[in-house]
Amino acid sequence: MKRLEGKSALITGGARGIGRAFASAYVQEGAQVVVADINLSQAQQSAEEIGATAIAMDVWDLDSIRHAVAEAEAQLGQIDILINNAAVFSAAPLVEITPEDFAKVFDVNVKGTLFTLQAVAQQMIRRGIPGKIINMASQAGRRGEPLVAVYCASKAAVISLTQSAGLDLIQHGINVNAISPGVVDGAHWDEVDRYFAQLEDKAVGQKKAEVGAAVPYGRMGRAADLTGMAVFLASEEADYIVAQTYNVDGGQWMS
Ligand SMILES: NC(=O)c1ccc[n+]([C@@H]2O[C@H](COP(=O)([O-])OP(=O)(O)OC[C@H]3O[C@@H](n4cnc5c(N)ncnc54)[C@H](O)[C@@H]3O)[C@@H](O)[C@H]2O)c1
Repeated sequence: MKRLEGKSALITGGARGIGRAFASAYVQEGAQVVVADINLSQAQQSAEEIGATAIAMDVWDLDSIRHAVAEAEAQLGQIDILINNAAVFSAAPLVEITPEDFAKVFDVNVKGTLFTLQAVAQQMIRRGIPGKIINMASQAGRRGEPLVAVYCASKAAVISLTQSAGLDLIQHGINVNAISPGVVDGAHWDEVDRYFAQLEDKAVGQKKAEVGAAVPYGRMGRAADLTGMAVFLASEEADYIVAQTYNVDGGQWMS
């Protein structure tokens, strides 16, 4: 028996990277999956390749959240599992951070996570069904870092929201937990590498080589390294797990 047979999942930011890998793993485990992303064409292409469906969603926009949750429910019947995966990154020396940068990162990473979680939880409660909600945190949320203050603060807020929402919603049979990756190679890290090439005057590729070498496991993570935890937290095996954030980072952080 597949571990998510009969379950339906909404995955935000699933057009590429870690979200796409989660969508693919969930389909492999028998779930029906809707991938929701601001980049609809890439989401459609990924969905077609992995056997999911795609919808447009901008988690920055509360109306878009409401519409996307309604559309996902219309396609799936109900949402049993939500992965709050969509996020944006920014990097700047502290003295150069702008209010616009701060607003964009917090509106997507924190407000988007909270109100997508809320919209899906409201439907789960209304339908009287149990549910699993997984937020994407980061080792960046475990401690501050020079040049990445706003992103770090946004991921610390995701860990805190996971705790509060987890404690609030378990009375309804809704488990809220989070996954905290370390450094995961892919298009996102290609962009981060280019940021650091400019900010720290490094060659392109040097930052990725450095962060990979610093991982106790011996390399950067891959999206596939995270799918086992995402399937587990969505399954009935995780029913007694509440408000936790799990490090899946090759040994970088211990808590
Ligand atoms: N890659 C890493 O090293 C790493 C490490 C720790 C945590 N994370 C977290 O894991 C998650 C996935 O990371 P990734 O590396 O796959 O990122 P990514 O940038 O490759 O993918 C993010 C996806 O989110 C979508 N997106 C961005 N803004 C959106 C919005 N407003 N509404 C809807 N969709 C939007 C993008 O189009 C993209 O498809 C993120 O939450 C990220 O913060 C990543």
